[in-house]
Amino acid sequence: MKQKYWDALAKNFSTDVLEISDCDLDGVILKTASRLGGKKKQAVDFGCGAGAVTRAVAPYFGAVLGLDFSKDLLARARDLTRAANISYEWADLGAARAKRYPCDVAFCANVLIADDAKLRERIARNVIRNVKKGGAAVFIAPSFESALRVYQVAFNCQIKDGVARDLALRDVKGWIREEIASLPEGVVRVGGVKTKHYMADELSELLERCSLSDIALSRVSYPWSEMLDNAPRNLKSAPPWDWMAVGFKR
Ligand SMILES: C[S@@+](CC[C@H](N)C(=O)[O-])C[C@H]1O[C@@H](n2cnc3c(N)ncnc32)[C@H](O)[C@@H]1O
Repeated sequence: MKQKYWDALAKNFSTDVLEISDCDLDGVILKTASRLGGKKKQAVDFGCGAGAVTRAVAPYFGAVLGLDFSKDLLARARDLTRAANISYEWADLGAARAKRYPCDVAFCANVLIADDAKLRERIARNVIRNVKKGGAAVFIAPSFESALRVYQVAFNCQIKDGVARDLALRDVKGWIREEIASLPEGVVRVGGVKTKHYMADELSELLERCSLSDIALSRVSYPWSEMLDNAPRNLKSAPPWDWMAVGFKR
């Protein structure tokens, strides 16, 4: 996932990419921003994309800076932004000697998703080293548990619709073969692109290794329609989710 890949997505970003803050069913991101925020506090949104999270959390902070290495996404973010306490800047978070952006609260939503473990860890370390002592970091990342659960629910929906068991199984297993690029590594193809997904313990372990403490995980749930084309309206199963990890710099 190079810079050019993200630049190419800029034009239709809101329709082609799930911007989690726009479909957070329980308002978990805003509640977290409200809990951690303050008018004297500075937040940085690392890997801000078109700035959806940046704009969502801005009312809870004195100032918010959005950083990204896609010039086209930064241009889109600037176009969509009206609030005076928001600014944007170009930064490569994967660079070994990335510039410092000290902040009270760091947000990093769906950025640790590349199919390269070393790059993911470098970005996580860069984000956390910018958090001031006593400050907090909020990481959002795709859930591997959720990805697997979607296959089960899709299978159950077909059975409920009267599809024969072996046909439903063949269909969903084909879907799994197409999408799960690496089960042990938690890599799933999303729109054909290899995307890292995390199990809860795995995300906590990564962030602890990168010097984040007191980590608490919660779900950021989003609608079934994002995962299933014809999701039944009366679907009772809990909706799919991203993990949100909140931790502190001690
Ligand atoms: C899936 S998008 C998420 C955008 C935004 N955080 C949101 O939730 O709406 C991932 C973003 O991370 C950015 N990104 C990925 N690797 C990066 C890097 N090494 N340095 C800076 N930005 C990066 C991409 O350009 C893209 O905007």
